Amino acid sequence: MYFKFTFCPIILLLWASLSFAQNVNVVIHGAASIAKTDDNFVCVTLDWWPAEKCDYNQCPWGKAGILNLDLRYGALINAIKAFNPLRIKVGGSLQDNVVYKVGEVSSCPNFMKREDGLFGFSQGCLSMERWDQLNRFFNHTGVKLTFGLNALFGRNESQTEKGYKVDSYEFGNQLSGSGMGAKVDAKQYGKDVIVLKNLVKELYAHPETQPKVLGPGGFYEEKWFNTFLEVSGQGIVDGLTHHIYNLGPGDDPNMMNKILDPSYLNQVSQTYKGVSDVVNKFRPQLGAWVSESGGALNDGSKDVSRTFADGFWYLDQMGMASTYDQKVFCRQALIGGNYGLLNATTFVPNPDYYGALLWHRLMGSTVLAVTKESDPDLRVYAHCAKKKPGVSLIFINLSKDRSFNITLSNAKPGDPGKPNYEFVGKQNREEYHLRALTGDIKDDIVCLNDVPMVQTDSEDIPAMDPKLVDASTPISIAAQSIAYVTIRDFEAPACV
Ligand SMILES: *[C@@H]1O[C@H](CO)[C@@H](O)[C@H](O)[C@H]1NC(C)=O
Ligand SMILES: *[C@@H]1O[C@H](CO)[C@@H](O)[C@H](O)[C@H]1NC(C)=O
Ligand SMILES: *[C@@H]1O[C@H](CO)[C@@H](O)[C@H](O)[C@H]1NC(C)=O
Ligand SMILES: *[C@@H]1O[C@H](CO)[C@@H](O)[C@H](O)[C@H]1NC(C)=O
Ligand SMILES: *[C@@H]1O[C@H](CO)[C@@H](O)[C@H](O)[C@H]1NC(C)=O
Repeated sequence: MYFKFTFCPIILLLWASLSFAQNVNVVIHGAASIAKTDDNFVCVTLDWWPAEKCDYNQCPWGKAGILNLDLRYGALINAIKAFNPLRIKVGGSLQDNVVYKVGEVSSCPNFMKREDGLFGFSQGCLSMERWDQLNRFFNHTGVKLTFGLNALFGRNESQTEKGYKVDSYEFGNQLSGSGMGAKVDAKQYGKDVIVLKNLVKELYAHPETQPKVLGPGGFYEEKWFNTFLEVSGQGIVDGLTHHIYNLGPGDDPNMMNKILDPSYLNQVSQTYKGVSDVVNKFRPQLGAWVSESGGALNDGSKDVSRTFADGFWYLDQMGMASTYDQKVFCRQALIGGNYGLLNATTFVPNPDYYGALLWHRLMGSTVLAVTKESDPDLRVYAHCAKKKPGVSLIFINLSKDRSFNITLSNAKPGDPGKPNYEFVGKQNREEYHLRALTGDIKDDIVCLNDVPMVQTDSEDIPAMDPKLVDASTPISIAAQSIAYVTIRDFEAPACV
């Protein structure tokens, strides 16, 4: 049970600070897109970790691992269904320690603590009963599934084709470059992925339902990634996957400062740039995916990952990744660790869950360039609106003490060199203001337009309605808050 808030206290300081608001001119370059994401850009992971996985003297996985998760909870089902569909990647460190109970494999033990095992665990086993259960669950909740395959053990990874819809198979986990726990030479990996591709082609005869092959699902290293794709050659790796953990170890006491520091947040853009250079060279059909990103390593940060403040990292990453043409961004994890979007024992969604759901509903796949007067504390990303006309923007205000009033400009269509003109809308804007319940960014309840986001008694995700705002007033973003804004009558040629 958790205390139910029925309203969000008004924070006087916030309103007072509005009168000292700084005006910022934001230019949306609506003439042409700079990148295109997949329609299901927002993705989450499910991981194999057993309850015995501990870091920094705590064990935050409980029964959230793939072999343990109770799939019957209404709160879990509703949280997934709200996305309609949600892209899920099943994988994680122990993925290369999993045996599948097929063929000659006779015993099927669970993971057990073992000093000399990969990541300190023995091999674990996926029984076909569990595989069936998981697939029924994914089918029932409308999941687009990426399944991470073991790349270290045996060559008989195949399952009998049961007609389950698998969108893609990812090959291996964090074995690229210098690896995490284990590593594989790039040339060997390139050869192995060819074998996997041929196996998938053999098992799934129909090209329309044939799962895609993704890899290597590890940390980006220029030389390793290039060699891997050179060896595998054209048409084998459909999507180039990599992992992002740019906040460092989960027990860093400085975590909150990192999350609020724009120059720290910017550093990882080098990685996105590197990955997109590799993609431009080898042109895999599905481009680049961030197939796992939890922010902080080793289960996330106990004090920060579940809080409102984590959104300053997470939503900014999704914005940044999409400007670098990353097609999918998988958050570690849907449930489990400290970074789970759902609490591992109560299944209660945290603020990042709601931030992700709004992204999924509002931000279309076409990415637009944004420029603004230099104020690094205000982060802005613009996409064409999802499914309907107009543009959707996300504003992230990292500043502790400054509010911003925004003036929007539209770059002149077909004439990018010319001065921008101020955009004056006529239709009401749809605004979604997110802030921490008590104004403290360490809160783990988020308010949307002053309504606290808590599940209803039936464990449904609450309605997430916009506030309609008169087009003649400036967009204003409170200190340390996040806002999505959809403007239906902003005519960006790239969005038509
Ligand atoms: C910012 O917008 C608010 C609300 O419209 C207004 O009261 C305030 O004067 C504006 N501040 C500036 C500096 O323009
Ligand atoms: C893989 O399959 C082949 C042929 O079906 C068999 O000979 C081999 O023993 C199997 N290997 C493992 C590790 O199960
Ligand atoms: C998935 O569910 C649909 C009904 O919602 C059913 O028709 C279909 O057979 C299911 N597919 C599998 C592989 O279970
Ligand atoms: C999950 O909720 C329980 C009960 O409210 C709380 O004690 C625990 O810290 C939460 N876990 C995380 C990772 O937020
Ligand atoms: C960011 O928040 C600060 C603190 O309330 C506020 O003064 C400032 O106007 C906000 N910035 C923007 C761009 O909204």
